[in-house]
Amino acid sequence: MRRAAIISVGSYVPGKVMTNFDLEKMVETSDEWITERTGIKERRISAEGEATSDLAFEAAARALKSANFDPKELDLVLVCTSSPDMLFPSTACIIQDRIGATNAAAFDLSAACSGFNFGLAAAASFIESDIYNNVMVIGADTLTKYLDWTDRNTCILFGDGAGAVILKAANDGSGILASHLGAEGSGGKYLTMPGGGSRDPEAKKRFISMDGKEVFKFAVRVLLSSVRAVLEKANLSPKDISLLIPHQANMRIIDFAMKHLGLPKEKVYVNLERYGNTSAASIPIALDEALAEKRIKAGDIVVLAGFGAGLTYGANIIRWR
Ligand code: ACO
Repeated sequence: MRRAAIISVGSYVPGKVMTNFDLEKMVETSDEWITERTGIKERRISAEGEATSDLAFEAAARALKSANFDPKELDLVLVCTSSPDMLFPSTACIIQDRIGATNAAAFDLSAACSGFNFGLAAAASFIESDIYNNVMVIGADTLTKYLDWTDRNTCILFGDGAGAVILKAANDGSGILASHLGAEGSGGKYLTMPGGGSRDPEAKKRFISMDGKEVFKFAVRVLLSSVRAVLEKANLSPKDISLLIPHQANMRIIDFAMKHLGLPKEKVYVNLERYGNTSAASIPIALDEALAEKRIKAGDIVVLAGFGAGLTYGANIIRWR
């Protein structure tokens, strides 16, 4: 069967580090509270004037270089983001031009923190159906630009970053075995960034607002159900998982999934203590680091699963190449 296999990964985070101690000086919070409730210790903050495409470009260039891949061979560049440089042109078109992927179509995909899983599922469909052979999927966000730095409910959670993968058609049993995507639009009100859209183009308030408790309840439920759904579609069980890479939002959400799936710590990749929630970038950054640390080898079953604004959720199960 023709499948979509990830043949290269690259990631990039901005240089500026903001620690919990820095946040203590900005809002009424403490390193102890943030660590206990989220697991986050520090996050990266994009510079003024540094846009999502700047991070996405670095990640894309690293993925191309690591596989020595000719960008002209790409058929599609898909950027998953909810913080595009502008409404149009799409961030994907900006990247298509900057990396020289002159033969590729390009579009953005908006599914917030679930974006990368939605992007992988879309890429897999294009490849499995023989429409494309080579697809680049990027998850990139600069949500710190949309934070109200006086709101301790949100400003402690997010960081900026980008991760990119190149997918190629494979007929050797490797690749994306199954995907599971979903949305609960009725819960959209629990996590919003309303300003600047067509409902209120002149909005002064362009900040993320969140009902943390509702998002938390949703997240623990769908993280577990979407991992179970892809396992079932691939005819596998939790014990077959070599590595789970969950969306890096909150350690307590990840702990819940680990406990209910019966997964030991070694089988779950976590780096949220260093980056916070980088939205659509969190899973590809973690994937890049897991590979660098040799936590994944050929033949491994890797599950990527996330959730986010929308509300949305999605998972992919991969037999590693
Ligand atoms: N520092 C200190 N105290 C705080 C802070 C803070 N940063 N934030 C809230 N508190 C206080 C609250 O005011 C509250 O005080 P009170 O009891 O006197 O009212 C107390 O701490 C407990 O607040 P809760 O909101 O109940 O804290 P909770 O344990 O639910 O943790 C958190 C909050 C971390 C936001 C959690 O709800 C969460 O992680 N939710 C999911 C968020 C998430 O993952 N969002 C991203 C989705 S992905 C995307 O698409 C963007």
